Amino acid sequence: MSNYHIKNLEEYYQIYRKSVRDPENFWSEIAEEHFTWRKKWDRVLEWDFKKPEVKWFAGGKLNITENCIDRHLLTKGDKTAILWEPNSPDEPAVKISYKELHERVGRFANVLREQGIAKGDRVCIYLPMIPELAIAVLACARIGAIHSVVFAGFSSTALATRINDSDCKMVITADGGFRGAKTIGLKAIVDEGLTQCDGVEKVLVVKRTGEDVHMHKGRDLWLQPLLDEAYSRCDPEVMDAEDPLFILYTSGSTGKPKGMMHTCGGYMVYSAYTFKNIFQYKDDDVYWCTADIGWITGHSYIVYGPLANGATTLMFEGVPSHPDYGRFWEIVEKHKVNQFYTAPTAIRALAKEKLDYVDRYDLSSLKVLGTVGEPINEEAWHWYNDNVGNNKCPITDTWWQTETGGIMIAPIPYATPTIPTYATLPLPGVQPALMDEKGEEINGNLVSGRLCIKFPWPGMARTIWGDHERYRTTYFSGFENMYFTGDGALRDAVGYYRITGRVDDVVIVSGHNLGTAPIEDAINEHPAVAESAIVGFPHPVKGNALYGFVILKEVGESRDRTNLSKEINQQITEHIGPIAKLDKVQFVPGLPKTRSGKIMRRILRKIASGDDSSLGDISTLLNPEVVEAIKEGVIKT
Ligand code: WTA
Repeated sequence: MSNYHIKNLEEYYQIYRKSVRDPENFWSEIAEEHFTWRKKWDRVLEWDFKKPEVKWFAGGKLNITENCIDRHLLTKGDKTAILWEPNSPDEPAVKISYKELHERVGRFANVLREQGIAKGDRVCIYLPMIPELAIAVLACARIGAIHSVVFAGFSSTALATRINDSDCKMVITADGGFRGAKTIGLKAIVDEGLTQCDGVEKVLVVKRTGEDVHMHKGRDLWLQPLLDEAYSRCDPEVMDAEDPLFILYTSGSTGKPKGMMHTCGGYMVYSAYTFKNIFQYKDDDVYWCTADIGWITGHSYIVYGPLANGATTLMFEGVPSHPDYGRFWEIVEKHKVNQFYTAPTAIRALAKEKLDYVDRYDLSSLKVLGTVGEPINEEAWHWYNDNVGNNKCPITDTWWQTETGGIMIAPIPYATPTIPTYATLPLPGVQPALMDEKGEEINGNLVSGRLCIKFPWPGMARTIWGDHERYRTTYFSGFENMYFTGDGALRDAVGYYRITGRVDDVVIVSGHNLGTAPIEDAINEHPAVAESAIVGFPHPVKGNALYGFVILKEVGESRDRTNLSKEINQQITEHIGPIAKLDKVQFVPGLPKTRSGKIMRRILRKIASGDDSSLGDISTLLNPEVVEAIKEGVIKT
């Protein structure tokens, strides 16, 4: 018997030990007892981190949507699967039962097939947080098409790069999307992006805002009439456990985003198992994750994990500040939410506002609170604990990545005692290691180092789409026989982990993973710019904000600097999206470089954070004199 639901700390340790002693047996028991397979696997695990190659449940056959939908029909057909709360509180919420979800996914899947999509084809989904987004994801999975969801805040250029990288044949979008008081013309962005993409044959368009859009003849189709004509029954494509399920792009330390590829079997088992335990989900609970499905958190913990457990998952179209800062808490009260999962940046933004926005609502339904995406600072943790959880709800600070597919280190509510800012203990099956700069593992407690994982887990990404060598060099070449996370961490006296932040060129801004390289590439395209370097600096709401050091082409460039800063941000908005805009832009005569020409970001980070007291030895730099000039011009407020 597998122990699928961990209830106390003793049980956790017992299960953890078992999972490490015999991971194959541990995961195969879970996979066998809690999921529906068309055919059992031949081998639980094959792996070689040198190649690297990882296969879980190879030879097993399944369809993830059968596990997320069909198998609940008999016992939970009328239960709400997706509870959708629109942007405006004046528009009624929508409840989609498992039965209805089955029909709607079936119809959508049949439309995809009729429009020429088959197993293995890539479909780009660029939608706002409306039910069609979850349904489109599931419809792709139903027929074995590989979905690539692109967050609907990305620009047309960023969208086009992602469409081309994975050769998507189709784009699913909407006329527009509502976000707070604004609408965003998504179809127009798609049209713009597609001028740079040759491979897209069809664009399906959901009507949401009702705004005017241009429909490209022969390419663009309104979705609704196609759905009206389609059959609701759609037999699922039988997939191999190791067949791709989806691609999701994440930033890296070069300009090109990395298309992390996840597979059907292992991802299903991992996202479902972690959902059940981290949220302690019980049958009648209403669970809400405020992320967007455009990020991994939404994939694993709005769609797949909850549905695989037959849960009711709330999906919110809007933003926490509209129509006012009480919107989240209003929704918690209205739908009697039991588990609430959000980002530290949202907590910090809400904590700045009047407490009355929280106090006005009855939050007594809450049992578990979660955070994800970045380290949570102590102040925000306490605010969340005191005002939202009323000191009664355990807070699970969940550390994981797009690459890991699911939560890796986090307290199990009601089992693991929590300490603010600590992600605490690894989930069963997860074997973390801290490494020193020489590549040796640091054993014992009260130590810190680079965080690696030394054994495969089912949810890990199997490759970077189209670039396995980059997958190898990014994650498996830094430390022998280890997966390197890119994060630093410390382990305290009792073995709890605390994540200390990225140790590479990725900056987490408002919980979003931003590579510095693509932003620099965007800035450098401005005709007046010669070179630039981006670093993060501490920000009270965003966690980190971006500081840009920019060298102009002509020394003494006479143009208005304020306008130039605006143009640079405009450039970034066009290339990547508004999430990557700089808070501060400083024009500098040079950038500190090593003799081999590498920018010394460590120095820039210190200066940007307002602490230039200990810059270390700068005499070995190629151009130590620029450091003084940069320090003098630093933007303080
Ligand atoms: C950071 C999000 C501290 C970390 C699921 C990681 C965190 C990156 C936490 C992945 C946390 C995520 N505490 N840092 N609880 N959760 N991070 O791919 O740097 O968008 O490597 O996945 O976010 O971000 P991604």
